[in-house]
Amino acid sequence: GAPVKADISKLEVGQQMIVEWRGQPVWVVRRTEQNIADLSKLSDQLADPASAVEQQPEYAQNEFRSINPEFAVLLGICTHLGCSPTYRPEVAPEDLGDKWLGGFNCPCHGSRFDLAGRVYKGVPAPTNLVVPPHRFISDTVIEVG
Ligand code: FES
Repeated sequence: GAPVKADISKLEVGQQMIVEWRGQPVWVVRRTEQNIADLSKLSDQLADPASAVEQQPEYAQNEFRSINPEFAVLLGICTHLGCSPTYRPEVAPEDLGDKWLGGFNCPCHGSRFDLAGRVYKGVPAPTNLVVPPHRFISDTVIEVG
């Protein structure tokens, strides 16, 4: 499939937008400063905090799994059986517990991912979410594919 463009000029801090690429959802999340700081606090709860498994291009194999720490670009498909997890940016909601610092929760079998798409330990999903190939073609446009 052809690359698709995501216009992030209107994406507010803390929000998610979804574009379709090859018939699949790709999320762009504009992380808050707090979100970015929180990513370094989660390592002991995550199965692959350093992204050792190749679920991302080389340029996204870093703590933020992204080119620019402010923007997460993730394939919105659970690595368990392919449902699309739900964006849950709130901290410590009742149903996700007081350790939750924002992330994605899969409605199908309860897999959980942080705001870099890193999978939590002890859930059915075996790996982090995929970071699709992407690039910034300007300050406000990301091309995916
Ligand atoms: Fe997401 Fe099973 S498909 S937890």
